[in-house]
Amino acid sequence: LTIYRKDYTPPTYRVDTVEMGFDLDPDLTRVATRLTMRRNPDSRNKSLVLFGDSLELVQLRMNGKEVGKRGYTLTNGVLEIHNAPEQVTLEIETATHPNQNTSLMGLYTSNGNFFTQCEAEGFRKITFFPDRPDVMAKYTVMLRADKSRYPVLLSNGNLVEEGDLGDGRHYAVWEDPFKKPSYLFALVAGQLVCQEEKYKLQSGREVLLQVWVEEGNLDKTQHAMDSLENSIRWDVERFGLELDLDRFMIVAVGDFNMGAMENKGLNIFNTKYVLANPRIATDTDYAGIESVVGHEYFHNWTGNRVTCRDWFQLSLKEGLTVFRDQEFSADLIGTESGRAVKRIEDVRVLRQAQFPEDAGPMAHPVRPDSYVEINNFYTVTIYEKGSEVVRMYQTLLGRDGFRKGMDLYFQRHDGQAVTCDDFRAAMADANDRDLSQFELWYSQAGTPHIKADMQYDAGIRTYSITLTQSCPPTPEHAKKQSFHIPVAVGLLDRNGRDMPLTLEGQDNADNGSAQTTLVLELKEQSQTFVFTSVAEPPVPSILRNFSAPVVLDVEYADAELAFLMANDSDAFNRWEAGQRLAMRRMLALSAAVQGDHALSNAQLDEGALGNAFRATLRDTTLDPAFCELALTLPSETVVAEQMDVIDPHAIHAVRVFLRRALASTLKVDWLVAYQSNRTPGTYSPDPVSTGKRGLKNLALSYVLEIDDADAHRLAQNQYDNANNMTDRIAALSVLVNSTAPGRDAALAHFFEEFEHEALVIDKWFSLQAMARNTDVATVRELMKHPAFTLKNPNRARSLIFSFCNGNPAQFHAVDGSGYEFWADQVIALNAINPQVAARLARTMDRWRKYAPALQEKMRAALLRVASAGALSKDVLEVVTKSLAE
Ligand code: ARG
Ligand code: ZN
Repeated sequence: LTIYRKDYTPPTYRVDTVEMGFDLDPDLTRVATRLTMRRNPDSRNKSLVLFGDSLELVQLRMNGKEVGKRGYTLTNGVLEIHNAPEQVTLEIETATHPNQNTSLMGLYTSNGNFFTQCEAEGFRKITFFPDRPDVMAKYTVMLRADKSRYPVLLSNGNLVEEGDLGDGRHYAVWEDPFKKPSYLFALVAGQLVCQEEKYKLQSGREVLLQVWVEEGNLDKTQHAMDSLENSIRWDVERFGLELDLDRFMIVAVGDFNMGAMENKGLNIFNTKYVLANPRIATDTDYAGIESVVGHEYFHNWTGNRVTCRDWFQLSLKEGLTVFRDQEFSADLIGTESGRAVKRIEDVRVLRQAQFPEDAGPMAHPVRPDSYVEINNFYTVTIYEKGSEVVRMYQTLLGRDGFRKGMDLYFQRHDGQAVTCDDFRAAMADANDRDLSQFELWYSQAGTPHIKADMQYDAGIRTYSITLTQSCPPTPEHAKKQSFHIPVAVGLLDRNGRDMPLTLEGQDNADNGSAQTTLVLELKEQSQTFVFTSVAEPPVPSILRNFSAPVVLDVEYADAELAFLMANDSDAFNRWEAGQRLAMRRMLALSAAVQGDHALSNAQLDEGALGNAFRATLRDTTLDPAFCELALTLPSETVVAEQMDVIDPHAIHAVRVFLRRALASTLKVDWLVAYQSNRTPGTYSPDPVSTGKRGLKNLALSYVLEIDDADAHRLAQNQYDNANNMTDRIAALSVLVNSTAPGRDAALAHFFEEFEHEALVIDKWFSLQAMARNTDVATVRELMKHPAFTLKNPNRARSLIFSFCNGNPAQFHAVDGSGYEFWADQVIALNAINPQVAARLARTMDRWRKYAPALQEKMRAALLRVASAGALSKDVLEVVTKSLAE
C-alpha cells in the first residue's frame, strides 16, 4: 500500500505522441486514445505498464491488432501488456461516467459543464496511460459534443480546427505544441462565456488571454484578467521568463477540490479564485485571486516546462512556485512596509498551519520518503515550508545569486522531469557554493528550534551571540542532524538605531559602508558569533524578516520587547516583538484560568501589552496594514501550539478576555482609528485602501467587544451603508458575535441579498460556523438549510471545516459532541469525495496534545472512522497515522 521514494525506477516505455478523441456525454463519455510509444533504453524492465482507475476498457489494439484477453492482465488498476515490441502504437477505447464522478478527479461535470482535474493521478480516470510525471508527450485532442448544450470546447494549446458534425453535434481539435506529463492535460466543455484581451509580450509577440466563466459572471472577471497581465509582466522582469504560448486560458468552475490547476495553457480555477467585484468579494478575496492567478501562471515555467520526476519531488514545483507568487504579490505592493506586511501574513499561515503539521502525526519532510495517497501530500509543508526553503537560498545567495541559480536550472533542465537535488545543484553550481548540508531541509521533517544566548563584554567591547539548534523527533526520524540555517541579525543601540556590524574573523572592508543586518550561517549544533567594536550593550534583533522557518527562543524582558516593537528597523521583528509580548501574557493568563483564578482588568494594566497597543494605535506614521497585524492577538491555534497540554476553553476565555480588556482600556483610540481609516468613495482594492479598511474593521471588532448600544449602532450603520463586501461582511460578523438587536435580521437580509451568489453564501455559512455562540447543534441545524450540500467542496468547507477548524472552543465541547459530528461528516464525505474527506480528517492531528478527558473522546471518534466500511486510501492513511503510537 505504501509507496517509497527509494523504489523509483525510470519508465519502461516513453510516449511520443498522444491523440485523443472524446465523445462527450454526461452519462457515458467514450474516449479513444492512440499512443505512440517506444521502449526506454534507460529501463532494465521491459514490461509495458499503464494505469487506469474506475474505467471501462472497451477496446485495446496494439500495432493494429486487437489485444485479446490473454494478451494482457488488468489487476488493481494496473494494465500490463505482454510481449510488447520495441515500438508500439496502442489504441485504447475507454468509457467513463462524468455525471456520477463526485470525486472531482478525472472527467466530471459541474453545473452541467465538463471539466477535468488530472493532478496528481486523475488522467488514469480518463484513459489507461503510464500516468506518471516523468512520461512527457505531445498531445492532440479532438472534442465532440452536442453543439447547443456544449457550445464551447477547450483543451490545451492551440485550436487548430473546428466544425459541425451534423445531427446537432460539433467538434474542435486542439494541439499542444509542448510535450507535457499527463497530469497537465485538461479539457473544458459547456456553456461558458469569456472576457478576452490581446496582450503584447516584451518580445513583441501578441497573445490571446481569456477568462472563461458561466453566463452572468462577466462582471466579475476583470481582476483575474488584470492579475494575469501583471503575472506575465512580472515573470519577465524578475526572472526573464516569457509566456511560450499563443493563447492562455483561465476557466472558473464551482466544484473544485483545491484552489486551481496549472494545466498547460488551460488553467482551471475554483470560482473562489476568479470571480470578484466589490459587491461580492472582500479585500482578502482580491488578494487571493491575485496570488493564485500568479501561482498558476508561474507554474508554466516552474512545473510545466521543468516538471517533477516523481511525486516525492512535488515541492520542487510547489515550494518554488509559492515562493514566486509570494514575491510577485510583494513586488506588486511595491513599498517596503507593504513587503513586510505580506511577509508577516505568509509567516502567520506557516505558524498557524505548518508548524502544527510538522509537530503532528502527518509530519513529513519537504521531500517525503513515502506515501499511501499522494493527494494527502498537497500540504502546507510541501507548499509553505517548501517556499521557505526556496527563500533561504535567496537569503544565502542574495537576489542576484538566486537569479543565477534559476537561470542555470532552466538552462540545464528545460523540457525535463527532475528532482529537488537538481534544483539545489543549480543553485550551488551557479554560485560556486557548497550546499550539501542544505539537503537536510528536504530530508528531515520537524520545525528546528534555535536558542539564542547573548553576552556583552564591556572591556573589549564585544557582543557574542551563541546560537544552538535542536529539532524535535518526527515520525521518520528520532534524531536529527544539524541544519544549515541562515539567521539574519541586527543590533539596536539605546536610541533604537541600527549599529554598524563587524563580525570577528570576517573582513568587512570590501563591503564599503558597514552593514546593519548580517546573515549568520548556523551549521553546527552550536556556534558563537562575536561582534566587535560594539560601543554599548545592544538589544538584538534576531531572525530578521523570518530568515528561516524555525522557532526562535530568546529571553527578552518585557521592556526589551516593547523597545523592539517601537524601534526595530526590521518591520517583521517589530511585529514579532508585539506577538511575543501578547503570547507571554496569554500563556500566563491561561495558567491563571486553569488555576481557577478569575481574570480582572488589572492583569492587563500591569503588563506592557496595553501600553504597547496604545503606542501602536497612536503612532499615525505607521502603515495601517501593519497596525492591523500588530494589533491582532495570536490566534487560538497558535497559542495552543505553545502549551504542553492544550486547553481550548482556557485559551478562548483568555483571548476574549484580553480583547474585551483592550477594547475598554483603549476605547477612544479604537474609535479614532475607526473614523480616521474610513475609505469613502468608490471601492478600490489597492494596498493603501485595503490596509485602511483592515485597520478600521479591526477597530470595529474591538469596539463591538464592549457590546453596548453605541457599538451595535456603529456596526449596524456600517452594515446598512457598506458599498463593498469587505465592509459589509466585517459588520455582519461582529453583529453575529454580539447581542445587537439587529443581529438576526442582518443575517436574514444578507442571505436574501446574495442568495444567487454561491461564493457569498459560503461566507454566510462560514461566518455562522465560526461565531462564538455557534455550538454543534446549531451547525447540525445549518446543515439542514436548503442551500447546504456536502457535494460542493466550497460549501462543505464553509460550514463543516469552518466549524471544526475555526471554532475550537465549541468544537472541543467537553461532552465530545463536536468529535461525533466530525466523525459523521468524515464518513459521509468519504463516500462522496475522498480528498475532501481526508482534509477534514486532518482536524484531529493534534489529539494527543489535549487533556486526557478530551483525548479519550477524540480517540473514540478516530476509531469510529477507522473502522467504518469502504474507507478510501485517502482517509485511511490519515486516521491510521493519527492513531499510530
Ligand atoms: N498544482 C495545483 C496547484 O498548486 C494543485 C492541484 C492539486 N490537486 C489535487 N487534486 N491534489 O496550484
Ligand atoms: Zn501549485
